[in-house]
Formats: sequence, C-alpha cells, structure tokens
Amino acid sequence: MTEPAVPKDPRLSPVVRLAPAKLNLTLAVVGRRVDGLHDLHSVMTPLALADRLSLARAHGSSDTLHVTGRPIPVGEDGDGDGDGGNLVLRAVAAARAAIGPDVDAWPCAVLLNKAVPVAAGLGGGSSDAAAMLDAVFEAWGAELALGAASATGIRATLAARIGSDVPFFLAGGPALVTGRGESVDALPRLVGPAPGLLLVTPSVAAPTPRVFAAFDDDPAARPSDQGSVRAASEHLAVEWRGGLRSDALLTRAGVLASANDLAAAADVVVPGLRALRRALVRSLRRPVGLSGSGPTLWVLYASEAEARVASAVVAAGLADGSIIAPGAEPPSVIATNIPSEAPVMEDAGS
Ligand code: C5P
Repeated sequence: MTEPAVPKDPRLSPVVRLAPAKLNLTLAVVGRRVDGLHDLHSVMTPLALADRLSLARAHGSSDTLHVTGRPIPVGEDGDGDGDGGNLVLRAVAAARAAIGPDVDAWPCAVLLNKAVPVAAGLGGGSSDAAAMLDAVFEAWGAELALGAASATGIRATLAARIGSDVPFFLAGGPALVTGRGESVDALPRLVGPAPGLLLVTPSVAAPTPRVFAAFDDDPAARPSDQGSVRAASEHLAVEWRGGLRSDALLTRAGVLASANDLAAAADVVVPGLRALRRALVRSLRRPVGLSGSGPTLWVLYASEAEARVASAVVAAGLADGSIIAPGAEPPSVIATNIPSEAPVMEDAGS
C-alpha cells in the first residue's frame, strides 16, 4: 500500500474508483471444507472491463446508492456476488462498524455505473464491494486515523467476510487465489501486448451455490478427469510467477479453456450452455472457456481489436441462428482485454 492519502473534501471532489471484472484462467476445486465451502486453486486476472464508482458525502443521514448502466435485477444473487448494489452498501456499513469512533464515518452517496454483466461469473458485485471498501477508507481518512497497517488489516478482514471473491480485488492485479478465496498471492502482470478477450454472457442465472451443489451431489456434474485441472492451475501459477509473456498465454488457451472444475456443473445448472459453447467453438475455431461458476464464456485473442472482430462474428451468428444462446434476452457480447505490463513508451523526442 502507498502512503496514507490526505482525505479529500468529498463535497469538492468525489472519490472515484474503477471496479474491474475478473477472469478465472484456471479454477480447480481441491476439496470440501467443514464449513461447506470449497477450497480452490485459481489463477485470476482483472480485466479492462470495469464498473465505475463515485463516492461523495450524502445530503441526508443515510447511505444512498444510484445505479446507471446495466440494471441490477432486484434480489439478484446469481454468482455469489450477491446483488452488486447491495454489496456496495453492505461494504460501507461493514466498514463503518469496523473502524470505530475515532473516524468520522459520514453518510455516503454512491454513484455506480455498471458495465460488467451482473451475476455472470465475472465478479462484478465483489469488485464493486472491494472498490467501495477502498474508497470509503480514503474518503473518511481512515488510514490517517488508524494507521496504514491497521487499516489494511481491517480492509482485508472485511473483504473476506463480504464474499469469497472480494479479497482478490483488493490485490489490484493478477493473483493465485487459494483457500475459499481469502488467500491471495499476487502475481506479476503479463509481459507484452495486452491479450484480447471476448466475453459471451447468456442472460440466464447460474447461481454459485447451485453450481457448487451440483458439483458436490450430481455425478454428471463432476469433472471426468479429477486432478488434471489442479495440475494445470499449479503449472500456470509457476509459469506466471516466473514472468509469463502474453503470447505464451495465448498458446495455452486450449489447456486453460478446459481448466475449470465447475464447467460440467454449470452445464447441468444452465441448460443450453454446453450447446452455446460448442456453437462458439464451431464459429470462432478457438478454445472457449467458462469463467468462475459461469455462465460467462470466454475466448482469448492476441488483441482487443481481434476480439472485437470476433464479437461481430458472434453477433452475426446469433442473428442468423447458427449460434443459439439460452435465456430470454440475447447474450451480452463484450470485447475487452487483460491488462499487461505497460509497454515502454518511445521517447517522443524534441
Ligand atoms: O462467498 P460467496 O458469498 O461469494 O459464496 C457464494 C456461495 O458459493 C457459497 O455460499 C457457496 O455455496 C459457494 N462457494 C463455495 N466455495 C467457495 C466459494 C463459494 O462453495 N470457495
């Protein structure tokens, strides 16, 4: 963490945060815990695709939230991120309760512009909650009042309590995530140009608890080759820690697309997801993976521009019926990228 920031006057300048989506490049379920949750081994990366949060002092005495962009369905609890909006307010309330009376934890007016599909396996709600924790600690001057180390510790504890994916987002970059999600081991950024990514999110819910329950209870939802995803995930983490080039990630797309232990369970919970995946493989001639517990499917490209070309192919396939997606609405089709180490700027000269 950097130097504690001097609190801004929130009436003059709101505190603004981007809350990126995440992608699980691998997701191994390595065991079931006594608390019913699952131990995971997952290499995760933030994406360029992000929600935007803006925080200022509320006029009244209670916290308020205004959502623009994508609507958040009422009571949506799809991917275990919970309702992204409620998670934001829950993060504010939890932070206020945890930091104690030495900090003036004034009421917050939050604007949330949603760009990340909700309940999609992209961690949108969890990312909003992590960004909000970070924003309120700055806005209230909590680091000055409590000390940076203490504030960082409180933030990490709150993150793990709010949801399994939230601690990852506090790390601010790629990470190996283990335990139920609370153990986050930062990895360096990819080296080289930012890989492009096509995301196809059908408009159906794949509630995380249901996907894990299918994994536990339904033999059809079990991965056929247990242990292979864990091996792939461990291998990727070792390679990544040594400094992975973005073109090397692309050559591993086939392995990564099958490195998700929840894929068969998501297929059981979401009828039509397997057919959509096959149709995308046929149309795009690329490996297609599942992010988290779904239902978002992903395809890797060398650049965001290439991913954008692919998004037009998918749009055409949906229009002519060669690609059929489950859900009452058409799927979201988004081209984005995996941010990499910033390229060295050429000296513009003078
Ligand atoms: O922690 P979070 O609220 O995101 O988890 C939502 C649900 O996903 C849990 O109630 C549980 O059913 C499942 N889950 C799990 N193991 C994990 C994370 C989530 O079983 N490591």
